[in-house]
Amino acid sequence: MGFDIKKIRADFPILKRTVRGKPLVYLDSAATSQRPRQVIDALSSFYENHNANIHRGVHALAEEAEALVEESRAKTARFIGAPKPETIVFTSNTTHSINLVAQGWGRKNLKPGDEVLITELEHHSNLVPWQRITEETGALLRYVPIEEDGTLTVEAARKAFSPKTKMFAFTAMSNSLGTVLPVKELIDLAHANGALTLVDAAQWVPHLKTDVAAWGVDFLAFSPHKMLGPTGLGVLYGKFDLLDAMDPIMSGGGMIQEVHYDRSTYAPPPHRFEAGTPNIADTAAFGAAIDYLEAVGMDAIHAHEMELTQRALEILEPDEFVTVLGPQKIEDRGGVVSFNIDDLHPHDVGQVFDSEGVAVRVGHHCCQPLMRKLGIGGTARASFYLYNSLEDVEAFARGLSKVKEFFKVGVPVKVS
Ligand code: ALA
Repeated sequence: MGFDIKKIRADFPILKRTVRGKPLVYLDSAATSQRPRQVIDALSSFYENHNANIHRGVHALAEEAEALVEESRAKTARFIGAPKPETIVFTSNTTHSINLVAQGWGRKNLKPGDEVLITELEHHSNLVPWQRITEETGALLRYVPIEEDGTLTVEAARKAFSPKTKMFAFTAMSNSLGTVLPVKELIDLAHANGALTLVDAAQWVPHLKTDVAAWGVDFLAFSPHKMLGPTGLGVLYGKFDLLDAMDPIMSGGGMIQEVHYDRSTYAPPPHRFEAGTPNIADTAAFGAAIDYLEAVGMDAIHAHEMELTQRALEILEPDEFVTVLGPQKIEDRGGVVSFNIDDLHPHDVGQVFDSEGVAVRVGHHCCQPLMRKLGIGGTARASFYLYNSLEDVEAFARGLSKVKEFFKVGVPVKVS
């Protein structure tokens, strides 16, 4: 397909709508992406032509539905460089994927005195599950500290390891500050220290090429809805032997080998972790999202996002009333820009942007401990994806002027 922004935008029906009388400028893809016609069509086509439950029937529709789900599994494996489809578990979201490892692996492998290491950048989804399992098992949860600009150095991580570290779980890219972490070096460091790794790649897989085999990562979690796919679906990649040694956290139909009145045995991965009727339609449609991203090309997508990020930073950084959070160097960033304007509340900022048709996320971005550490309540955040254009960034600049005008930022208050 190549990178043709006009053609790409034409594939996304929602971009034709207006918001508050203005063309929609969607700068909230870190929360969830929009979907191209191809994915929407794949979803309706599933219900119109192939709908049936899977793993249970021998009729034609059941076989077709199952083939579509397994095709998506195989595409997912290929997309992230996984060795085989059986290493891909479909869950309901990234949070579910991380909980599956925290409980399925953690309950079996953590004991009092063991340590789990995470970073100060984590989203609640890669923090609370580890808080819970360490509390439950008597293990200790420790944090790699970040630098002032929200970057994380390999040196800081090195100092945080101890012989008791059993798991290092970290984000590949911060959803709130946009920091891109040195993923491969951190994985190598963990392995040199005898620890396993889980990478929260919710903000990475949609935007940057992923190769789990080259990384050597043990577990990787991400969400199709942030990469043009449907909501209600998550992915957990795990090295097969690790998945095979893990207990399911949900049990029932679809995950068993044999059930007797007094005992049961479980199916091998990935089905052991997919109890009950899974999210069949969304999984089937996810294949179309991967096809779309592959046709455009992940390198081209990343280059485009970084061009937009650069332009957004050029607008924000020189403004004396704006504080940009996160890495100083653009090389340490992905397509996420978090900022505050003067002493305005991010929610107020977001509302004025919205009145201009510009959708940005505001608040703590599910990173309360990080916001507390930075001494702020939250931020406004613009995040970019392949369908955003330089015109979107100019609309963002107009939104920024509107916020300042509306709240009279920089206008001296007259004291009578
Ligand atoms: N984790 C998503 C975000 O950062 C929801 O917006």
